[in-house]
Amino acid sequence: MSMRRVRTVAALRTAVAAFRARGESVAFVPTMGAIHDGHLSLVTRARKSADRVVASIFVNPLQFGPREDHSRYPRPIARDRAAFARAGVDLLWEPHVADVYPTGDRTRVVVEGLSGVLEGASRPGHFVGVTTVVTRLLHAVQPDVLWLGQKDAQQAIILERMCADLLMPVRVRRGATVREADGLAMSSRNAYLAADERAQAVALSQGLAVARAKLRYGERGAAKLIAAVRGVWRHFPLVREDSIHVVDPVTLAPLRRVGAHALIVVAARVGPARLIDNLEWRGR
Ligand code: PAJ
Repeated sequence: MSMRRVRTVAALRTAVAAFRARGESVAFVPTMGAIHDGHLSLVTRARKSADRVVASIFVNPLQFGPREDHSRYPRPIARDRAAFARAGVDLLWEPHVADVYPTGDRTRVVVEGLSGVLEGASRPGHFVGVTTVVTRLLHAVQPDVLWLGQKDAQQAIILERMCADLLMPVRVRRGATVREADGLAMSSRNAYLAADERAQAVALSQGLAVARAKLRYGERGAAKLIAAVRGVWRHFPLVREDSIHVVDPVTLAPLRRVGAHALIVVAARVGPARLIDNLEWRGR
């Protein structure tokens, strides 16, 4: 099957309408490009969830802070197109900024409470940029299923809340975090790491693995779990802690003790990159 590419919203709508005219269901995988196996795993799951897969590549300026990496975010577009075509994407949408943010644009979508905490506290405005762009992408594509990665757990939680709150007729599904052989969560930002930094970036997943082991042995105190992650990170001098939190996986409220469910979210600076990872605990 060959993959079609479109740029404008009008061309996208025409292509999706052709699927709909044949009675086909549509799954959607939004990305910012620099495609890796984490993105492709979502495409694989999306293919099983619907008749057609639409993916988008859009490096959304609104979700980057003024001192963040918007201009140097990797954009290997030819490689991305080939990877999506091989993975079985039917329609690839590559809008320009003006296609998503029309002249005179004033509208923002805010999920209150969830957007200003954790990642949102470190990156002011980031999640308003994410919810605003994903609302627009969803209105353009109008998919039956939206696929998101557990890698960005807070993003998935916020977008699930948003789709429910705005009565959006879409099912939101999450795909598990895809990792490198040593455990590092795949991320477009891993490309920023020098060899020694890349080697030490394993600290994030190793810290979470130790926290998981503690949970399995019955540890329930959030402070103890956070200390366990820190204990691992201490052995990796190139890894500078940004934040470690134990929270409720729906409300993101901090937990002092872990009950049946918990989410441990970590962020660290490694060289020029800010890396994140998380562990969802379901009492097992
Ligand atoms: P991006 O970072 O390109 O990620 C696109 C999707 O891939 C997100 O749902 C993300 O959670 C998922 N993903 C990234 N790394 C993954 C991994 N290692 N394993 C599994 N899934 C992974 O997230 C964004 O773009 C943007 O914020 C976006 C939602 C597209 C809005 O601009």
